Amino acid sequence: MADDLSQTNLDALRNAALGELDAATDDAGLEAWRIAYLGRSGKLTAVLRGVAQLSPEERRTVGAAGNQLKALLDQRLGGKRTALETARFGNLAEDAIDISLPGRPVAMGRLHPSTLIVREITDIFRSMGFQVVEGPEVELDRYNFEALNIPKDHPARDMFDTFWLDANRDANGDSTMLLRTHTSPMQARIMEANEPPIRVVVPGKCYRYEATDATHESQFYQIEGLAVDRGITFANLKHTLHEFARRLFGSERKVRFRCDYFPFVEPGVDLSIDCFSCDGTDPHCRICRGAGWMEIMGAGMVHPNVLRNVGYDPNEYTGFAFGLGPERIAMLKYGIEDIRLFYGNDIRFLRQF
Ligand code: PHE
Repeated sequence: MADDLSQTNLDALRNAALGELDAATDDAGLEAWRIAYLGRSGKLTAVLRGVAQLSPEERRTVGAAGNQLKALLDQRLGGKRTALETARFGNLAEDAIDISLPGRPVAMGRLHPSTLIVREITDIFRSMGFQVVEGPEVELDRYNFEALNIPKDHPARDMFDTFWLDANRDANGDSTMLLRTHTSPMQARIMEANEPPIRVVVPGKCYRYEATDATHESQFYQIEGLAVDRGITFANLKHTLHEFARRLFGSERKVRFRCDYFPFVEPGVDLSIDCFSCDGTDPHCRICRGAGWMEIMGAGMVHPNVLRNVGYDPNEYTGFAFGLGPERIAMLKYGIEDIRLFYGNDIRFLRQF
């Protein structure tokens, strides 16, 4: 019997083959191994070819052992191939994605009602030629009060319950910084930094130190408006605000101006619109409570002192200003009964917008 066909040699061939297969770490290694043992001139192929020269008896035993070894090497090669694939890609069969499975619904975010109404209102003024600008929520006494014709110890300061900050104090030990109580300080900031003509609206958050109830929050939005130029009159104010009311609440809306007092305007007014819900006929109307009118903003002609404070000559320039609370307006428009809902984070409320 030829030497290389002895059982000992087949065992040695098997051990060498399995050892080398174990050591293979990639596809190229596997292929080289396959060619070395199972290829056309591979070591095992040569053995199997040699079987033909053996005596019929030897042929049976050696042939059987050789074929068994070939089957083993084929099987181990397949196993090693899968192992390398799994290491590289993970188990493809187990990880397969069922693309016919319906997807999980994605919860869509939405805009907060305050954001929506602020955008709706600023869009209206933008279309009338106003620019939208923003300003600081932490403000100086100088802009929140002084520049607006509200000196220290002026009784009008009582109109604004103020959150004072500890950060800075003047020579008398009084705080000079606060959370702005309205957006009006931006009137002074804008005029100080620009020359007329000016047409701006300023949306932003304001803060007041007050007890909250259905119509009062300590944090709320305001939108300020300011127009300054040569020859601006009260008629411009009336037209602009009437036009705004009609665009927001409907073209048949009527507006009513009544005298009101704000230290930074003269004359000052408050603006009401007629009730679009009951026309003043229902004493239980949840919008106007039977009054027939709803107040939506304060306004007036910019006070000459305010113009002087920013270095404008009141004989050359005049202007009008207004300030409105978008949440109040949203409450009227959407029939919301409690302003605290806006910041209550109740998803059932927020989902409705
Ligand atoms: N700033 C005033 C307020 O908070 C509103 C206002 C603005 C009034 C501009 C007149 C002119 O109540």
